[in-house]
Amino acid sequence: MFTLLYFELLLNFVDCRALHILGKNGFHGTTLTSEAACASASREDDKLIITPLGAGNEVGRSCVYMSYKGKTVLFDCGIHPAYSGMAALPYFDEIDPSIIDVLLITHFHLDHAASLPYFLEKTTFKGRVFMTYATKAIYKLLLTDYVKVSKVSVEDMLFDEQDINASMDKIEVIDFHQTVEVAGIRFWCYTAGHVLGAAMFMVDIAGVRVLYTGDYSREEDRHLRAAETPQFSPDICIIESTYGVQHHQPRHIRESDSLMLSIQPSLKGVVS
Ligand SMILES: *[C@@H]1O[C@H](CO)[C@@H](O)[C@H](O)[C@H]1NC(C)=O
Ligand SMILES: [Zn+2]
Repeated sequence: MFTLLYFELLLNFVDCRALHILGKNGFHGTTLTSEAACASASREDDKLIITPLGAGNEVGRSCVYMSYKGKTVLFDCGIHPAYSGMAALPYFDEIDPSIIDVLLITHFHLDHAASLPYFLEKTTFKGRVFMTYATKAIYKLLLTDYVKVSKVSVEDMLFDEQDINASMDKIEVIDFHQTVEVAGIRFWCYTAGHVLGAAMFMVDIAGVRVLYTGDYSREEDRHLRAAETPQFSPDICIIESTYGVQHHQPRHIRESDSLMLSIQPSLKGVVS
């Protein structure tokens, strides 16, 4: 699930850009247009359109489509863990995969990456796809395992191991802070905390910057750095908000709860 934050700047753009938010599953379509909307701004290209194909008012199958100035980006390509077969996919029917220029995957979790073999091998998508080195390595392990352990019928299988292998050849890797440009779309990524390799992507199209976070953590972990603060403010922020209003207990409290206390002797037995 995510929240869209837009900043005042967006509404003040001289060329009257508009922000469209469309969504499924109760994510109410909202259209934000500049008050000063001038007739000349009605060119479709000048509208920045953001369409959640999944994770709009639901948890799971993160996938957000964005288009602006004739350029299109897809963020994440997850499955909904509560469904199987085609029902678990994001609403790909809403878009034309063949016009997507870039697909950016934030991290390897199934709800962010597990539709990827399907999308790359079984749709008309012919753009470029990027993720970090660590995400790519773990994606292969995790998805191969997922295919092996899933008990769905053959016709409900979205992809097999061969599709995962084939998708590996199409996935390009990006380093944290490395800037890549594809078809006039510039993007780079920041560490997101959360899990190994997790990234938040900043995309710049014609000077408009959009930050897409995926899951992130601002807490320094034992093995991961916290999410970075981008050096540039985005004009639009599409932000993961699943636990956004929940209060998490500090780690020292979590680690002294009864589960941890009960496994500590075993842990000590292993290491001593
Ligand atoms: C997928 O690739 C691995 C090597 O990375 C190989 O061992 C395996 O046999 C391949 N699977 C299929 C179905 O091609
Ligand atoms: Zn995650």
